Amino acid sequence: MSRQAHIANNFRGKDILSLGQFDTTSIDALFALTEKMATVAKQSKPSSVLAGTVTILLFYEPSSRTMASFDAAIKRLGGTTVVIQNPQQFSSVSKGETFEDTIRVFESYSNAIVLRHPEVGAAQRAADCADGVPIINAGDGIGEHPTQALLDMYTIWQKKGRLKSLQGLFAGDMLNGRTVHSLLKGLSLYKGNKVYLLSPKQLRLKPDLRDELMSRGIVIHEIDGVTEIPNDCDFWYWTRVQKERFKREAEYKKVNNKFVVTADLFNHYAGKNTILMHPLPRVGEIAVKVDEDPRAEYLRSQVRNGMYVRMALMAKVLGRDK
Ligand code: NCD
Repeated sequence: MSRQAHIANNFRGKDILSLGQFDTTSIDALFALTEKMATVAKQSKPSSVLAGTVTILLFYEPSSRTMASFDAAIKRLGGTTVVIQNPQQFSSVSKGETFEDTIRVFESYSNAIVLRHPEVGAAQRAADCADGVPIINAGDGIGEHPTQALLDMYTIWQKKGRLKSLQGLFAGDMLNGRTVHSLLKGLSLYKGNKVYLLSPKQLRLKPDLRDELMSRGIVIHEIDGVTEIPNDCDFWYWTRVQKERFKREAEYKKVNNKFVVTADLFNHYAGKNTILMHPLPRVGEIAVKVDEDPRAEYLRSQVRNGMYVRMALMAKVLGRDK
């Protein structure tokens, strides 16, 4: 399928490239199945929901959680995977094969391709040339990371009981953080959401993306310091400065870890029901001591929900959810 199709509560065969394809009805349906998947994942008898399917996990960029959670999600449903990491080094890509040829070859072996790639738009390019199987974007450069946003939204929904009328704080790298871009698109589907974006000036959202999001109704305030954090946020979404997107190390060092969550900072500026999330990996921007705080979800529900959401998504995309 070439263009970004609206999901419109019919996931079957569709590429999952951007949160922009979603609507609230589709998200409700996905989350209803996600709840069931949490039970399926815990049962001892094997599931055969994805029996007979092969999904290729094609990762041009490093990953631990995203790759392992897709792999585990598919296997928990009785499907199989072929994992190809670093094809630049270990496949015909190293002999000069084009991206398009690689996709067309893998498409002929599989029922779906999960793709991570350093270039914005790579998942769209793959979708343009693969007309037989759905492409799932597992991160395209600084573009989007839709499945991460879906698991983030599921976590907020689970903990707060709603996805509308929320007040949230995002911190870290708004410019390069693809998880931030997708999550903001997702939250902009719901009424009454207001977010504060805390980052060094150099790492603010691109103005055109900010304006596009605001035009969808989400209220965005860009802030420069922790003293501007409102004390009653429903969630904090902390992120790492994306080192691999900087041309020069010195530029990265100037902005890295300007904002670090310590136990003191969290106790002072967050509310007693504010949940703390992070897509991981963290590299110093949340102190380890904060992990003990019951409001810290990043190494708890957020990670587990990743597998459940991906189980539900794969079942739906491969038409096995009935
Ligand atoms: C994120 C990513 O790859 O964009 N990681 C992930 O998939 N959970 C965030 C990051 O790498 O900082």
